[in-house]
Amino acid sequence: MNKNGTIWHDTEGNTIQAHGGMILEHEGMYYWYGENKNGPTSTAPSGDIRVDFIGISCYSSADCMNWKYEGLALAASDEPGHDLYRDRVGERPKVLYNEKTGKFVMWFHLDSADYTDARAGIAVADHPAGPFRYVKGIRPNRSDCRDMTLFRDRDGSAYLIHSSDWNKTLRISRLTEDYLDVDGVCGKAFIEQEREAPAIFFQEGCYYMITSGCTCWDPNSALFGTSSTVLSGWKLIDNPCVGEHARQTFFGQSTYVFEKDGAFYLMLDHWKPEDLKNSGYSILPIEISDGHLTIPFREYTDFSK
Ligand code: GAL
Repeated sequence: MNKNGTIWHDTEGNTIQAHGGMILEHEGMYYWYGENKNGPTSTAPSGDIRVDFIGISCYSSADCMNWKYEGLALAASDEPGHDLYRDRVGERPKVLYNEKTGKFVMWFHLDSADYTDARAGIAVADHPAGPFRYVKGIRPNRSDCRDMTLFRDRDGSAYLIHSSDWNKTLRISRLTEDYLDVDGVCGKAFIEQEREAPAIFFQEGCYYMITSGCTCWDPNSALFGTSSTVLSGWKLIDNPCVGEHARQTFFGQSTYVFEKDGAFYLMLDHWKPEDLKNSGYSILPIEISDGHLTIPFREYTDFSK
């Protein structure tokens, strides 16, 4: 069983390359999408620490513990100047299934190596493991987009939640019915609070959003906020992490919350900026009580219990 806070391995014994990722449940299977960083870590002229863009990996699992590599769901382009060329940035991919079109839609943070392009990339596929076809990169509602996530509400409407205004404020942009664009309806959360790495979920009448502070690859304190609507009304509440190293989010950073068998789990990246391909992961159960979240660290998460 993979140990939280460390490098994880797939069913072939290779390191799992699915950083800044998410887990999607589809027809009883779980799909883990994330950044494939299986290359050398280097420093861009801007000083940003990076791995050249390789693509977005997909892993599948029936139990969320044994992960089979399905290959690159979205691969880098070998055409210089292309949005997905290796000199670009593709981070934090999130995938939703659109029931109306029967397509899988991926959004991700698409950027230049110096993080000034700040767009959302969009790709689409017929099957969960891809191949995804790149559609376009946009500035949602003319705003910049860096760390981001997707959230599908109970009525099927979906939202992009993205760090914007140079990471000062999170913006929430509703997607069109086919999830391939934004529809112009938008809101803000945690204005000028400098939050990123958003992970959002809904439980019993309340929307919850877990975020990190903005300290690049270095760990900081997570904070969760709540609201009764997706688009507005967000209030920061507290750090959900408890116990040793809670103020550094157990040396991790949030990337997604998913539900399995009625319980909610937070996915963390444990970044290693000196060697990004060897960054670790955690999946930690979230305790929810009276609108408050509590996340203790545990070495192993056993989904079979
Ligand atoms: C972090 C962000 C990561 C990556 C990194 C680059 O703040 O959460 O996804 O973009 O900065 O320095």
